Amino acid sequence: MKILTALLAVALAGIIPEPVSLQQQNGKFTLTACSGFCAASPEAAQVAGLTASGLRASTGLKLPVKAGKGNIVLILDKESGIPFEGYSLKVGRNKVEARASSREGLFYAMQSFLQLLDGGRKAPCCEISDSPRFQWRGFHIDPCRHFLPVEEVKKQIDILSQYKVNRMHWHLTDDQGWRIEIKKYPKLTEVGAWRTEFDGSVYGGFYTQDEIRDVVAYAAERCVTVVPEIEMPGHAISAIRAYPELSCTGETMNTFYTWGTPDVSLCVGSERVFEFLDDVISEVVRLFPSEYIHIGGDECRKNRWETCPKCQARIKEQGIVADKEFTAEEKLQSYAVHRMEGILAKYGRKLIGWDEILEGGLSPNATVMSWRGEKGGVKAAMMGHAVIMTPGSEGMYFDHFQGDPKAEPTAIGHYTTLEKVYAYDPVPQVLKDAGKSSLVKGVQCNNWSEYIYDVSHREYMLFPRAFALAEIAWTQPDHKDWESFKTRVDAACRRLDARGVNYHVPLPEQPGGSCSNLAFSDKTVVELTTTRPEKIVYTLDGSEPTAESAEYKAPIEINRTSVLKTASVTSFGRLSTVRTINATKMEPLPGFADEDIFKGIRARRADGRFWNAAALEGAEWTPIDLKSFRDITALEPYDRNLPDSTRFFAVEAGACFKVKETGVYRFSSDCDRVWIDYNLLIDNSDEPVKRYSRHDAELVLAEGVHNVHLLYIFNIKGGWNPLRNKSEVSMRKPGSEEWKPIKIIEL
Ligand code: ACM
Ligand code: ZN
Repeated sequence: MKILTALLAVALAGIIPEPVSLQQQNGKFTLTACSGFCAASPEAAQVAGLTASGLRASTGLKLPVKAGKGNIVLILDKESGIPFEGYSLKVGRNKVEARASSREGLFYAMQSFLQLLDGGRKAPCCEISDSPRFQWRGFHIDPCRHFLPVEEVKKQIDILSQYKVNRMHWHLTDDQGWRIEIKKYPKLTEVGAWRTEFDGSVYGGFYTQDEIRDVVAYAAERCVTVVPEIEMPGHAISAIRAYPELSCTGETMNTFYTWGTPDVSLCVGSERVFEFLDDVISEVVRLFPSEYIHIGGDECRKNRWETCPKCQARIKEQGIVADKEFTAEEKLQSYAVHRMEGILAKYGRKLIGWDEILEGGLSPNATVMSWRGEKGGVKAAMMGHAVIMTPGSEGMYFDHFQGDPKAEPTAIGHYTTLEKVYAYDPVPQVLKDAGKSSLVKGVQCNNWSEYIYDVSHREYMLFPRAFALAEIAWTQPDHKDWESFKTRVDAACRRLDARGVNYHVPLPEQPGGSCSNLAFSDKTVVELTTTRPEKIVYTLDGSEPTAESAEYKAPIEINRTSVLKTASVTSFGRLSTVRTINATKMEPLPGFADEDIFKGIRARRADGRFWNAAALEGAEWTPIDLKSFRDITALEPYDRNLPDSTRFFAVEAGACFKVKETGVYRFSSDCDRVWIDYNLLIDNSDEPVKRYSRHDAELVLAEGVHNVHLLYIFNIKGGWNPLRNKSEVSMRKPGSEEWKPIKIIEL
């Protein structure tokens, strides 16, 4: 049966998400210049119009929409008994008929039809009957860390709605930027929408209320409800930047330009703050018809509340006392979320928040978005609350790596492959066992954007994982089939190609850790694999690989200095990013003579704001004492709030280390630069962000004593604070996959 489905899927180019039932029949329907839409109701005509304009773009055909005539018939039949959002679709040789009880159902029928046409003019004859598993099939976007212009927001809505995703969670406010115009508080966007980066440049942007109305209407046409998120009481530095009186101390803050959570939150002891939140929400509800408004609630640091007279007075006034489960401040957050629920209720809206809103007691009608695993979602559902599953640990965070971190562009961490996303079932077994499955209203992928510096990379992180999200959100679990899905993903990726949208193709990776700078004395062997099976091609003559280049069949033996260029190739000929692996033949670097060996660390420091290694020219250096390389990050206190008084600096440090056997050693570091025996080996200094270095490199070292020298710069690039890095160099011994910090010869 599974094989049959897979074969059928090939023949049909494949629909994502997989429908409830699909029967292929003989023959094909062909679009011609004589085709047209027949749509009697205004809802059907709207869907037909949208479909016609899509077909005009893909085929050039300009098909009319008429009330009583046309061979593509859209019937809105409220008595049909078809579930909300469900549809039936009959594709015959001469006629297509879509039937649904809702506009949404007709829209989804047309999305299936468009996928059957697959960009061409012919669709295989078939009968489909379909309806979704979950009502909330969501994707989240984060324009706060990196701004996403309106056109890009619309593009994502357009593409994802084609896969029957129907909620866009728009994360509009955060420490790094306030992105929604609020008329009563103009400084939120005049000031709070902008941040000054380390290099002095000003970064930001915001959506005007007109732009938001435009996006909401655009989404509604495509059956996507836009759910805005206004973060409280944490993640609110951009608001506090604009209106300092919203914090406990009234201190002046910069809009945050690093990632992570600062200590400063909204002062929930202050009535002024609730007045502000009420005012903001009163404008938000006029822009967003969504039944739900997301109030954030995650990662709120409460240390200022502990010493704030107003917050402590509120605790007293409310009779809040700590117990075994929750601190008084956690309960104070719960008080604040309850107040938000009241504000929303006043405007006829419901509250949704991240799972921290469980801490200190859940508001009576709140819906919980479970992101820290499924725990919060399970707890809330057991209490009878609706939940949306978005657990990062189960594959719903698309800011995770989707391949080897040593080969992929920098991501926030973790590991979420397409297969992992696809494997996720949003209803945990405990809820099934407890008869609470129906409280899981849906599932959502979160696309946090700290490490997403451009549109193409955003698409790379989103696709094809979003296709897996679409299928787990719509398709019943017994209908999921990974083999068939992979084939259908290829078809969906071809459609992205046609539209010029980027996506992830698994890279050739080296088992045990990718490394693009290999060294050897006699020969080295390069083994390659991919996270899901794809053909791998390569060249050894320096030329760019193509789909027709030599196919990788077995580990490649290299015995002279070579440049290996490799890429994977999809079934339809699309290449992944090319990986260039330099393999250098060398004599072992000899150990140092006694007079060149020294004990301990020789180090010097320069104070100032240095953008990169080149900016150090002319710097004033002062010798410093260091016991270990690790101590470099302790030279200045790590303060997550990054106050203006922060002292930035650079350090150069060198030491000797002993190598017990001659062989190939591999080095890794997040420092700006690393030299081994005075050869520059690793250079991260001009990377957009100094995290998860992809510049690991090998050298052949002879038994004896060698030198390691590093450059560490404390600056902020790409929002990352390198005081959080390890200021050291790690090494792998010959034949080992275990990384260990280089052990220097101490004083
Ligand atoms: C979250 O990822 N902080 C909800
Ligand atoms: Zn306070």
